[in-house]
Amino acid sequence: MMLKTKFIQEIYLKEINGGIMKKLIICLFAVCFIVACNSKPKTAVVSTQNTPKNSKILVAYFSATGNTAKVAQNLSKAIGADIYEIKPQTLYTSEDLDWTNPNSRSSIEMKSQTARPGIVPENLSVSNYDTIYLGFPIWWGTAPVIVRTFLEKYDFSNKKIIIFATSGSSGIGNIDRDLKTSVSGSTDIVKGAVLNNNPSVEYLKEWSQTFK
Ligand SMILES: Cc1cc2nc3c(=O)[nH]c(=O)nc-3n(C[C@H](O)[C@H](O)[C@H](O)COP(=O)(O)O)c2cc1C
Repeated sequence: MMLKTKFIQEIYLKEINGGIMKKLIICLFAVCFIVACNSKPKTAVVSTQNTPKNSKILVAYFSATGNTAKVAQNLSKAIGADIYEIKPQTLYTSEDLDWTNPNSRSSIEMKSQTARPGIVPENLSVSNYDTIYLGFPIWWGTAPVIVRTFLEKYDFSNKKIIIFATSGSSGIGNIDRDLKTSVSGSTDIVKGAVLNNNPSVEYLKEWSQTFK
């Protein structure tokens, strides 16, 4: 009788252990399967790192009297980039641009820390571009405040912005630094150059190579 009971206990234990083993093996397979599905093969990571990024370039510009517009058009031709004009909602008249008058629109805007002249709303998909060449005339040694309206309107996080300008005689100075306060910390603002005297498409092509 005792022997019989022990025998039954052993079979019972074997069955329990067998069931647990089965479950453990199934769990083990499931874990391996999930890990295999979630881990990328090493070769794919290497190939992703080695593939050059398909970067798209935009030339964006503001121009009140046409000088910067010409440079922007030639630059977009030179590099085969899209072009976008920052158009003021209210156009600047010649009285507005009179820097000898402290009460002209441009003088008042440039003295203000907060002036953000409106720009014509357009659906610009900044997310399509990695690099933006941003051109403008130099006003009072820096960028016109409407350029800040543009920079603050869109999200330029992780983008490279190369600035260029036209001027009477001023150089690019520290305009890159000035504009940093209108973008996020991850935006790289690169000091380009003042491109006066309507440089040729060929010249601009060579110049743009500097930033590759
Ligand atoms: C309000 C105002 C301020 C200006 N300030 C400067 C300046 O500080 N330094 C300079 O060299 N030229 C200055 N200029 C001249 C312009 O930068 C120059 O004419 C420019 O090429 C105009 O470009 P746009 O035709 O694209 O508007 C100023 C022009 C205006 C209207």
